[in-house]
Amino acid sequence: MAQTTRIAVTPGDGIGPEVVAEAVRCLETLRAKHGLDLEWTRFPWPSHAWHEEHGESMPTDALAQLKKYDAILLGALGDPGPMDDPDRYLLPDSISLAPLLDMRKGFDQWVCERPARLLPGARQYLADERAKDIDMLVIRENSEGEYVSQGGRLRKGTPDEVATQMEVFTRKATDRIIRYGFEQARNRAADRVSEGRTRTFRTLDGRTCESQVCLVTKRNALRYWGDMYTEAFDEISKEYPDVATHHELVDAACMKFVQSPWAFDVVVASNLQGDILTDLAAVLSGGMGVAPSCNLNPTDPDMPSMFEPTHGSAPDIAGQGLADPTAMLFTAARMLEWLGRKDPAIAAAGKELFDAVAADLAENSGSRRGTHEIGSAICERLSR
Ligand code: IPM
Ligand code: MN
Repeated sequence: MAQTTRIAVTPGDGIGPEVVAEAVRCLETLRAKHGLDLEWTRFPWPSHAWHEEHGESMPTDALAQLKKYDAILLGALGDPGPMDDPDRYLLPDSISLAPLLDMRKGFDQWVCERPARLLPGARQYLADERAKDIDMLVIRENSEGEYVSQGGRLRKGTPDEVATQMEVFTRKATDRIIRYGFEQARNRAADRVSEGRTRTFRTLDGRTCESQVCLVTKRNALRYWGDMYTEAFDEISKEYPDVATHHELVDAACMKFVQSPWAFDVVVASNLQGDILTDLAAVLSGGMGVAPSCNLNPTDPDMPSMFEPTHGSAPDIAGQGLADPTAMLFTAARMLEWLGRKDPAIAAAGKELFDAVAADLAENSGSRRGTHEIGSAICERLSR
């Protein structure tokens, strides 16, 4: 018999606990409906509240505790809000957000997947009607690059101060993220075929393919890693003749994300460039309220992957029951699909949750509803 799948639930700060509560209700509904072999444990850390009490955002053995789980479902970290409370417990971003980076690194979650698809009912920020066809998957390198946190400050506080911030790009991490991008392009093409949708992308030599990978770099200015990425991309692309290839410089990619985002399929970008591009991509798909995200370790089954929406703790609306849980629920759906690699019933529940959240979005376009109201509507839909 398959082993129980165990989730560590870490609600975090601000709207995190509010949206996570709705995700947990949906999990409960699905578990009861299908008798899923699924368990979860709620952790009060990492959080500002824990830091206020214990002087650290999470216990020193936090990663060792989390490692026992199959996945981590994280709400948000950062300013807990509400903004009009001048006495709320605040921490510098570098401290409050560190646990996120510690988990990504500690569990070698080397892929950050951020889909951006403008689903029916989601807010369409671009006037062009073709925006309805936006459907891309941005894959962010999540283990190194600009985020290695190496460097320092010399002669601090003097007029001669120097700050260094290293960027590290290894061939190993480059190859694996690019190959992952091509694999996802193939999977997406197959999914589209099974859903009766097709897309076509032209190659430079005039062929048409059903999927595409666009590599983003800044190789005209940052040539060392840019050239290595380009070489790796060219080599690996030979193994995927069925997938069209494309390259954009990151500044031009920003422009084209706004000008013609429907032309992108899979986008592979470095850690920082992917971070920036995915805030833009989130808006293209309806805003932070609907944008899911996940941090995956596809290679080591003993390492938990972490699922957190792209949005932050939203201190401006925290504690008011106003946060849209849709992004969190799409993220939870992706988590179930991921966990379903070991248990098909859980994968099916992930698909069911995705469909329910998408249907709820489509039916309630533009309506003003609170966090709990949206969660209830989706739970009710799942119980039908
Ligand atoms: C994200 C966030 C984080 C990042 C911050 C909070 C460190 O912006 O998940 O996109 O830059 O990766
Ligand atoms: Mn970000």
